Amino acid sequence: MTADKPTNNQACDENCSTCTTAQPHSVPKGLPLKAKIDVQHVILVLSGKGGVGKSTVSVNLAYALAGHGKQVGLLDLDFHGPNIPKMLGIEDQRPAVLANTLEPVHVTGNLAVISMAFLLPDTSTPVVWRGPMKMGAIQQFLAEVNWGSLDYLVVDLPPGTGDEALTIAQLAPNVRDAVIVTTPQDVAVMDAIKAAKFIGKLDLPVLGVIENMSGMSCPHCGKDISLFGEGGGKKAAEDLGVPYLGAIPLDPEMVKSGDEGRPYILRHADSPTWRAVDTVMKNLVAQIEAKPA
Ligand SMILES: Nc1ncnc2c1ncn2[C@@H]1O[C@H](COP(=O)(O)OP(=O)(O)O)[C@@H](O)[C@H]1O
Ligand SMILES: [Mg+2]
Ligand SMILES: [Zn+2]
Repeated sequence: MTADKPTNNQACDENCSTCTTAQPHSVPKGLPLKAKIDVQHVILVLSGKGGVGKSTVSVNLAYALAGHGKQVGLLDLDFHGPNIPKMLGIEDQRPAVLANTLEPVHVTGNLAVISMAFLLPDTSTPVVWRGPMKMGAIQQFLAEVNWGSLDYLVVDLPPGTGDEALTIAQLAPNVRDAVIVTTPQDVAVMDAIKAAKFIGKLDLPVLGVIENMSGMSCPHCGKDISLFGEGGGKKAAEDLGVPYLGAIPLDPEMVKSGDEGRPYILRHADSPTWRAVDTVMKNLVAQIEAKPA
């Protein structure tokens, strides 16, 4: 293969003969190529549209993996709406600073969390983040947090295909795949396909598509209402040729669980929604664990 000169978003390695610098082209000078974090498998959670349930999926997935006895980290990279701490009921906690490293907030013995929200004075103040500032923060989250030795790092991303996904793919070791969350409605599905193509450009496979907010049982008569249409997630998965991981209904209990800071999967309710979440998470964990180390 000939050594093509890398385009803007590609990284050069130390042996690149065509460039005068060993730094990746889109990372500011002074940042190392790969951050020191000991993790076997980094999973990105993304969507095209906002508000479709990425953070909800991220927290439930992190708990599902931790429930399998794995060492799990959960990294909230939604700089403009970092709501993972709220969803886990740890918004008042702060990482301890120990000898120049940050101690992540441990929600269980084998699940640790870092969120931008921890580093902000309060979550109601919007912060203007420029690209390089985000990169610097992501770099610190990978290099200066005492994650220990992780089996999995679940990364909750902002909607769309921005700097955060690019930067984490460039800086973290073992970024192996992504999971796409969408609602059934056409615009969300279109954007989900766009997000999947972006992931393809980063040379990462898509583990599968989750359809969230898929139908709702009427609280009055129990009939199914398909608020956002139906079948969009399955169609997106088929179009992309990736596994369809299942559908999670729209359920006020899910909202409550987010607002109360207790991941839905921990409720073990005997309800269709709980069984749906459990099934989707089992399918996802099976896809993840099927990957060779
Ligand atoms: N299946 C669902 N049923 C009802 N509410 C949901 C469901 N999934 C997510 N939500 C709620 O919708 C809102 C947006 O979800 P969130 O996970 O924050 O989306 P994103 O991270 O994609 O912006 C949150 O309040 C969350 O609790
Ligand atoms: Mg979110
Ligand atoms: Zn009804």
